[in-house]
Amino acid sequence: MENRRIGGVHLSNIGSYEERIEDFNWDIAKDILDWKDGELLNIGAICSDRICSRGDGKKTALIWEGFGDKNARYTFDDLRVYSNGFAKFLSEQGIQPEDRVCIFMDKIPSLYFSFLGVLKLGAIAQPLFSAFGDESLEVRLASAGTRAILTTRKHVRKVRKIKDRLPELKKIIVVEGNPDRLKEGEIFFDVENSPRVEEFDVYHSTPETPSVLHYTSGTTGQPKGALHVHNSIWAQALTTSWVLDLLDDDIYWCTADPGWVTGTSYGIIGPWALGATQCVLDSGFTSSRWYKFIQDNRITVWYSAPTAIRALMKDGNELVSDFDLSSLRNLASVGEPLNAEAVIWSGEVFDGLKFHDTFWQTETGAMMITNYPGMEIRPGSMGKPFPGIKAAVLDLATHEPVDEAGKVGLIAFRPGWPSMFRQYWKQPDTYRSKFVGASENAMPDELRTNPDLWYVSGDRASIDKDGYYWFVGRDDDVINTGGHLVGPFEIESALVEHEAIAEAAAVGKPDKVNMEVVKAFVTLKPGFEPSDDLELDIMNFIRKRLSPLAMPQEIEYRDKLPKTRSGKIVRRYLRAIEWGEEVGDLSSLSDE
Ligand code: PRX
Repeated sequence: MENRRIGGVHLSNIGSYEERIEDFNWDIAKDILDWKDGELLNIGAICSDRICSRGDGKKTALIWEGFGDKNARYTFDDLRVYSNGFAKFLSEQGIQPEDRVCIFMDKIPSLYFSFLGVLKLGAIAQPLFSAFGDESLEVRLASAGTRAILTTRKHVRKVRKIKDRLPELKKIIVVEGNPDRLKEGEIFFDVENSPRVEEFDVYHSTPETPSVLHYTSGTTGQPKGALHVHNSIWAQALTTSWVLDLLDDDIYWCTADPGWVTGTSYGIIGPWALGATQCVLDSGFTSSRWYKFIQDNRITVWYSAPTAIRALMKDGNELVSDFDLSSLRNLASVGEPLNAEAVIWSGEVFDGLKFHDTFWQTETGAMMITNYPGMEIRPGSMGKPFPGIKAAVLDLATHEPVDEAGKVGLIAFRPGWPSMFRQYWKQPDTYRSKFVGASENAMPDELRTNPDLWYVSGDRASIDKDGYYWFVGRDDDVINTGGHLVGPFEIESALVEHEAIAEAAAVGKPDKVNMEVVKAFVTLKPGFEPSDDLELDIMNFIRKRLSPLAMPQEIEYRDKLPKTRSGKIVRRYLRAIEWGEEVGDLSSLSDE
């Protein structure tokens, strides 16, 4: 890495933002990794084998803590050997390059080993949040035609419930727990207690070989799979270096779960590509547990999310002073709007360190608009586009870039950055619909390389006179709860499966800590009466089938739901009421 500590003063890896923009070239990422054209471009190998071959095999790669006092440490050599172990095992199970392999487990070490192992084999890693219930899991496995699932004793029950409806799912592999209690057809594989696999013939991926498939929610339809490729690593590594500012001796903590894109791009790929030491805490959130984790591991760089920061704020400043957090030197945040108060608070309690907000999406694969070390932070602003990213705010009506400071429009990016998603899995029309200016029959490859198009993010923002971006809100009905996107359609589909519910609408309602939580409006079938018990029953029904995130925090019973004349439920109207906003033009609503 460049710009090491000079005379004890760290100048930051990015140095001057303005100069970086002038001289920008994505090949800088290759130079940072000392990677030459023609060398093996496989994320699994770059994050493990390559760090060992440069002489850092004994360096700590992962510091892991779980519930109670469980903990473990692994070197890059361990990462190399255990990811080889998974790759070899999966290949013996008949898994082929480009097969989808779901990783469905808590943040245990095997999650990290298997992720790299799947990529070393040339297969596609499909990480899913372990708190998903069987229905959320089924929808995503069915969509991806997933061939194998890696899970644990704790979560395999959910797979059992749905496996008969998933003909393409050939292998159910349990990586932890008691092998004696598995059902017929389930395979046990404990990498740490299997023979060490020193050599594995890593798949020779090209830059365009698929790597990771992350499911993300939209307004309409079930979640879509955003497909990434091995070439994404350049954007992930460079943003890790310039925004998170990792150095060789840093101890880095990304709080995100790899079931979501932050947990893979910045909780696995970017940092390990650079050879950084990462920490993982696999236990529930409490403020004191988090502070202790930072203190005990002398964490220096911390990447988290606004909901967590607001929860820490709520627990007060006094608690912070019970811990020695002096190791911290760089803080960043992603996932939802980072309110100005949270930025100012962090500056006050963490010895002048303010959280750097970063904006990006599952689809972008890496940070797009962010605050940089050494650049003035304007609390409440997301910062400026990453060098090499051509961003704009497009006029809501004309879709032309807005050049007036403060005017609100749609955040958009010119296609072509390395970590851009290559398709929505088997949904070319939905992929095309994300680009302004695309011709009707444009194929995904044309779309992602055409510098005259705009990829439209689905968020609204304005740009101030100095080029800082200010988030305004989403341009659709997707609910962002605690930094996690939840699709209203997925919740509504599950709600109407409840025996009492005739029709349902799900919207986000404001929440002090989580920004939004789910609220459901329902009409009941004849013979059912509203009651507190029924409300609880519906909540649990959704929690179990989908996830705790999707569970409505409130259910409102209605005699009827607002609809258009063609019978479509109008969430916009219900949402506006929750947010105390103007409900807008209601002339298209049905009088029924
Ligand atoms: O609405 C924006 C919000 O989260 C969405 C992306 O969510 P997801 O694909 O799950 O990826 C989350 C982690 C990268 C965006 O479309 N979002 C993300 N970061 C910010 C944000 N909203 C405001 N400020 C942010 N910094």
